[in-house]
Amino acid sequence: MQLIDGKATAKAIKEEIKLEVQKLVHAGRRPPHLAAILVGHDGGSETYVAYKIKDCEEVGFKSTLIRFEEDVLEQELLEKIQELNRDPGLDGFIVQLPLPGHIREQKVIETINPAKDVDGFHPVNVGRTVIGLPSFISATPFGIIELLKRYKIETSGKNCVIVGRSNIVGRPMSILMSQKSINATVTVAHSRTRDLEELCASADILIAALGAPGFIKEHMVKEGAVVIDVGTTRVPSSETKSGFRLKGDVVFNEVAPKCAFITPVPGGVGPMTRVSLLSNTVLAAKGNIFN
Ligand code: GUN
Repeated sequence: MQLIDGKATAKAIKEEIKLEVQKLVHAGRRPPHLAAILVGHDGGSETYVAYKIKDCEEVGFKSTLIRFEEDVLEQELLEKIQELNRDPGLDGFIVQLPLPGHIREQKVIETINPAKDVDGFHPVNVGRTVIGLPSFISATPFGIIELLKRYKIETSGKNCVIVGRSNIVGRPMSILMSQKSINATVTVAHSRTRDLEELCASADILIAALGAPGFIKEHMVKEGAVVIDVGTTRVPSSETKSGFRLKGDVVFNEVAPKCAFITPVPGGVGPMTRVSLLSNTVLAAKGNIFN
């Protein structure tokens, strides 16, 4: 069994991005600039956005945090997005989700200029991904593909089962895994899938992205499989300062001995998700996707 070390891989990619920023600045360009819009004070969102800003600093990006209170009007938020769309000094931005109930999330996503949509959530980016055009790919699928590539994991002709069909992980992951450069045969499983346990046990590559801690158990994994655990559910813990710890969708101790490769939680997919936003911002700054 080989452990897929997302933390070390993300660190290496961060170093590559840092060098890329230095090259851009050396060539007389300004550093890449990422902005994040945060609405309200949800604890999880505060933490994630703080990480994003910190990551920017570490690689030499400029970053801007734009805050709105919980009761901001949708119109006000949309106007800010339009302002950011027009700002030539800004390469990309994200609106941290979830948003308060009175704001239409899809309307917000569709107001973002696709060329600055470094989250890859806009339907133009999703659609471009589907037909194999250059696009911003959402951070978690982007990070997983990068792990598969860097660990030289064979994907061609393999049976890949993805458990979960969310717009930001399962669905785009299924599109990427079936693309010509990856060539896996993909099944997307979900809450109505019949014989799910047998299906998982038939997978050469099993991607668990359902957000149910400990769902994937030993009997659901084939000997020699590659297991990617996307789950990061916060569960209470008396052993950490924060009072919680992250728990994956896979029972790691049971499953790991059977695997050819497996990602741990924490330290697997999570750090790759973080670094992928930086990679997308470099692509935006260089105009590599839309031009
Ligand atoms: N909320 C949880 N994950 C994400 C993400 O990747 N992007 C944004 N904008 N919001 C999130």
